[in-house]
Amino acid sequence: MSSAEPNEPVAEPEYDPFEAFNRSAGIGVVENPYPMFALIRAEHTIKQEDLGEAMVADAADAELLNLNMDESINVFTAFGFDAVQQVLKDGETFSSAGYADIMGPVFGHSILEMDEPEHHTYRGLVQQAFSRKAMETWERDLVRGVVDESLDSIVDAKRGDLVRSLTFPFPVLVIARMLGLPREDLPTFHRQAVEMISAGFEFDRAISASNKLFEYFSEIIAERRRHPSDDVISVLVQAELEGEHLDDAQICSFLRLLLPAGAETTYRSSSNLLFGLLTNPDQLDALRADRGLMNQAIEEGLRWEPPLLGIMRTATRDTEIDGMAVPAGSVVAVNLGSANHDERYWDNAEEFDIFRPPRQHIAFAWGPHMCLGLHLARMETRVALTQVLDRLPNLRLDPEAEPPFITGAVFRAPNALPVVWD
Ligand code: HEM
Repeated sequence: MSSAEPNEPVAEPEYDPFEAFNRSAGIGVVENPYPMFALIRAEHTIKQEDLGEAMVADAADAELLNLNMDESINVFTAFGFDAVQQVLKDGETFSSAGYADIMGPVFGHSILEMDEPEHHTYRGLVQQAFSRKAMETWERDLVRGVVDESLDSIVDAKRGDLVRSLTFPFPVLVIARMLGLPREDLPTFHRQAVEMISAGFEFDRAISASNKLFEYFSEIIAERRRHPSDDVISVLVQAELEGEHLDDAQICSFLRLLLPAGAETTYRSSSNLLFGLLTNPDQLDALRADRGLMNQAIEEGLRWEPPLLGIMRTATRDTEIDGMAVPAGSVVAVNLGSANHDERYWDNAEEFDIFRPPRQHIAFAWGPHMCLGLHLARMETRVALTQVLDRLPNLRLDPEAEPPFITGAVFRAPNALPVVWD
């Protein structure tokens, strides 16, 4: 572990966050779980299984989620759209408190593990920084510039890997700049962020990075309380709802969660969308010719390959899901990827098709915990894809490179996106 603190100017030059992240994520294990989901859905929309089967198809993902595979516990997984939606809509019967064991040690008491009424008040405070209106300002003043800078570094080469050069780094840079972190802190911030979200690979290192980020954010929060500016941390220190304010620990937990919740998901979803387009060149051509297709392309990318396949709840009472009895205390895993491919809702669900009739997918979840950053995620993806199409003419997969593939059992993204352009 480096002794560098976030306000020291330079991180060790040989550190490569992308390499470190891929090592920790065990990239390359599960290629396509969707045929298996379809087989299960044909028999069950909700299925009782053991904990290992329910959430993970490989040990790397189990470790990443800090799951105890030996635990003997009732586990049900919802595979059908209706079953998934029923669980996510009803936060009283299906509690989020179980995340405290999985994520609490690294992120503290975060919004993800809160139930009502605490969740409602807290969410009301933090969401003030993520309104649709705020996104218009961030798009104009920040996101376009960040994407442009990333593309500046590769545009003349006419060949590159879009994951490494664009989709992996840009969402972290966006979040760092939205928080108003000084530019010179970014290399160390990125390093500690990657170390923190690599808890399954090196737990002690993740805890140490989390503690360092806590100290780092605490200093910045104190500074913003004295001199508020217009960044997200300033909005959070000033946020007020019915006389309630956020204290420093609450803000710190939220800020640390933003890295996995906001940066990792957007990196994966924008990569998956580019993969869908690059492997379906007729659809890429159609989008290039008609940017009015942009929003439906983004939604189809999220439906077809959501970056995060599984989330969890715990049943607070004896209940029923789609006719199956679920006893109080059971873990209920919901498979967002399988729900997004439910043939009862989508024809040819396995196909990437930006022209399919619009229908609300469930990649951002549903109900009280529905993604707080969805306006940001959509805006970032739109800006990135627009600049890619504008600045990398005739973009296509590199015919001389190994064909890329999407991989991962819980978190999914392509291993690379080798491309060429004119
Ligand atoms: C395409 C990108 C994204 C996807 C697919 C996604 C997906 C999700 C999902 C499935 C949840 C529900 C988790 C659960 O209840 O267990 C969630 C919650 C959340 N997301 Fe996102 N997310 C994305 C981007 C972002 C971004 C950019 C932010 C940045 C602000 C963000 C912040 C959050 C937060 C704070 C929560 C917790 C909300 C709550 O518990 O009330 N997400 N997201």
